[in-house]
Amino acid sequence: ARIAVFASGSGSNFEALENACREGELDAEIVLVMTDKPASFVVERARLTDIRVVALEPKAFPSKQAYEEALLGILREEDVEWIALAGYMRLIGPTLLAAYPSRIVNIHPSLLPSFTGKDAIGQAIAHGVKVTGVTVHLVDAGMDTGPILAQVAVPVVEGDAEKTAQAIQRIEHVIYKETLQKLILTNGGVHS
Ligand code: GRF
Repeated sequence: ARIAVFASGSGSNFEALENACREGELDAEIVLVMTDKPASFVVERARLTDIRVVALEPKAFPSKQAYEEALLGILREEDVEWIALAGYMRLIGPTLLAAYPSRIVNIHPSLLPSFTGKDAIGQAIAHGVKVTGVTVHLVDAGMDTGPILAQVAVPVVEGDAEKTAQAIQRIEHVIYKETLQKLILTNGGVHS
């Protein structure tokens, strides 16, 4: 299966998926890393691999539709079948959703539907929950909505946001590859 990873940040989930592909735990190839933030650290990580890196800034386009049409052109060039969002901080619009129905996946650092959007770990700590977690879900037009594929609970480390975030990231790096592997095995082989 041919996967594109979309990321806006540090790219640790990209790196975990890339390792999983190389080690044969994920029966897929990451053929493209797309970022909307050319200065993000994911670009540095991706440049250590042979994977094509594309940085497209939405503000360079007249509309979201034009931006997504440009993305779609690149996705088609690379025969991308699945899109894995990994810290991509934008909503996916109708153009990409229509082109990749049930083929865009996201990972989010909370037990959805709690704590959607930015800084989900900070939101959980501020709320005082004792258990938070990680969710992998299919992407729809909403923000961190869409059918849930997998969830793992992670205890909040009292008074330690940093340790809580580390525990969440460790889980993310395991459940994203496992969930994608299951998804690809059950829906594999079909081009978009
Ligand atoms: C992860 O916590 C992911 O769940 C969220 O954004 C973060 C990205 O981290 N959507 P990284 O860039 O993969 O290190």
